[in-house]
Amino acid sequence: MAQSRTAIVAGNWKMNYGPKQASAFAMEILPELGQLTRGYQDILCILCPPAISLPAVREVTDAMPAPRIELGAQNMYFEEQGAYTGELSPAMVRELCSNVILGHSERRTYFAETDEVVNRKVQAAFKHNLRPIVCIGENLAQYESGATQEVIRAQVQASLSNFPAEKAGEVVIAYEPIWAIGTGRAATAKIAGEVIHLIRKLYHDMYGPEAAASLRILYGGSVTGANIGEFVAHPDIDGALVGGASLKPDFIEIVRKTIATKQKP
Ligand code: 13P
Repeated sequence: MAQSRTAIVAGNWKMNYGPKQASAFAMEILPELGQLTRGYQDILCILCPPAISLPAVREVTDAMPAPRIELGAQNMYFEEQGAYTGELSPAMVRELCSNVILGHSERRTYFAETDEVVNRKVQAAFKHNLRPIVCIGENLAQYESGATQEVIRAQVQASLSNFPAEKAGEVVIAYEPIWAIGTGRAATAKIAGEVIHLIRKLYHDMYGPEAAASLRILYGGSVTGANIGEFVAHPDIDGALVGGASLKPDFIEIVRKTIATKQKP
C-alpha cells in the first residue's frame, strides 16, 4: 500500500492544565514546535487540551501561527444541541478546533462509552468537518489471553462501520493498548506494528484499497522522546498519540524524532 501519509503527533493533555497553565505551557513549547514543523511538510501536530482550556491555547496559536500545528478536543457528544447537561456539541467544538479524539479507553472505562456511541460520534464529526481520532485497544487480560486480534476486529467493525466512502480515508485511528497507557510499559514497535497492520487490513476489507492506504494509524501508550524513534521507524505506524509526555517539553523531542525518522527515504 502507498506510503504517502502525513505523519501525526497528537498530544492528549487529558484532565491536566486549566486555562492559565495551558496558556503558559503553549507559550513555552509553541515557538520551538512551530520552527520544527515549518521546516517539514509531512507532519501534523495536534494539541488536545481540556475543552475549557481550548480558547486559551487557541489565543497562543493564533498569535504564533504555524501551519502544521492544529488543536483538537478530547471528546464531544453526537447530538446537535439541547438538554444534555455538561456535554459539548460538534458545532461548538468546531468553533475552536478541527480535530476531536473519540472513544479513548478512559471514556470507555469511566464513562461507559460503547462502540455504538463512538460510531455515532464519528458520524457527527464527519458532518461538522472535524477530523476524528478514534482510539481502540485491548486491556491487559485480553492481551495476556491472546485475544488482542479478536478485540481489535470487533472494535474496528463496530466503531468504524457505515462511513461514507469519501470520508473513510480521513479518519485517524489510534491503537492504544490499555496496558501500555500511563504505565511506562510501552508496547514494542513489533507488537504495535502487527496490530496496526491488522487494522489496515480490516479497513481495506471494509472500505477498499484507497481508504486503507490513506488511513493514518497512530500508536499510543507510554510514548516518550526516548522510544518514539522505534515506533515511527515502522512503516505501518504513522505517528503517535501521546499522553503524559505531551505535558512536558519532551513532546518537542517526540516531534523532532518523528520528523527525523519519517524524513529518511
Ligand atoms: P500515556 O502516553 O500517558 O501512556 O497516555 C497515552 C494516551 O492515553 C494518549 O491518549
